[in-house]
Amino acid sequence: MSELRWIDAPASAHGNAARLAVHTTGAGPLAVLLHGYPLDHRMWDAVRHGGLGARRTLAAIDLRGHGASPAAGDDAHAMERFADDVAAAVDALAPDGRADVVGLSMGGYAALAFAERHPQRLRSLALVDTRAAADAPAARMAREAAIATATTQGAAAIADAMLPKLLAPSAAPAVAAALRAMIAGTPVATIVADLRGLRDRADRTALLPTIAAPTLVVVGEHDAITPAAEAEAMARAIPGARLVVVPGAGHMTPMEQPMAFAAALTAFWDAAG
Ligand code: MLT
Repeated sequence: MSELRWIDAPASAHGNAARLAVHTTGAGPLAVLLHGYPLDHRMWDAVRHGGLGARRTLAAIDLRGHGASPAAGDDAHAMERFADDVAAAVDALAPDGRADVVGLSMGGYAALAFAERHPQRLRSLALVDTRAAADAPAARMAREAAIATATTQGAAAIADAMLPKLLAPSAAPAVAAALRAMIAGTPVATIVADLRGLRDRADRTALLPTIAAPTLVVVGEHDAITPAAEAEAMARAIPGARLVVVPGAGHMTPMEQPMAFAAALTAFWDAAG
């Protein structure tokens, strides 16, 4: 059973005030799940409703403007803004004021910003199909092209462009269909604000050696967006981090291989205590 909680995040230098929809399942210490671009909490459904809820209260956040969370009118979604929204959710939902933070791709960029800005609220960190580096010049230009596509052709065109890169060749058609529906249902204004935030995000490579919380790095072996080699380098840079490469997964590991993903997270949480 999933419960919907509403969290109010105050305005800051990085963005407007917002109301966030947080979908909780399970029991125990708080774990927050941060989705990728341009998705919402449903990307975690296969793992939220499995055995992980026996170990943690799983809080899948709809980042501002995504899923059930209304847009807050920001021109850009800065990763710092997402991180401060997560801090508001942790303050409201965690009795001990700390959370295990799990972020995929854009959610991983937000998780790194959270580790930088709110280390006292971080019990452990799971970085999933993500990277620490900023966009290179070619990637920044690709963001501009995607903004033009979204604005002129709509969210379905973004789905068409992204889908071939998101999944391993062996991905189930139902996973592709769910992903397409999520992307196509995301408001264009949210997609554009995400793209500006992704384009302008800080390089957090220098943060990695300073992360003190237990850290897990997970990557799909066929991830074409944030490749395994980059995940390996990120894991090497974080003191004591473990790396799990998930066979048969592309960029969307928790959707493509939910059992293997949940097993990796369970083993990590059990070891982290
Ligand atoms: C994501 O999955 O969140 C995006 O692919 C991240 C990105 O484009 O950098």
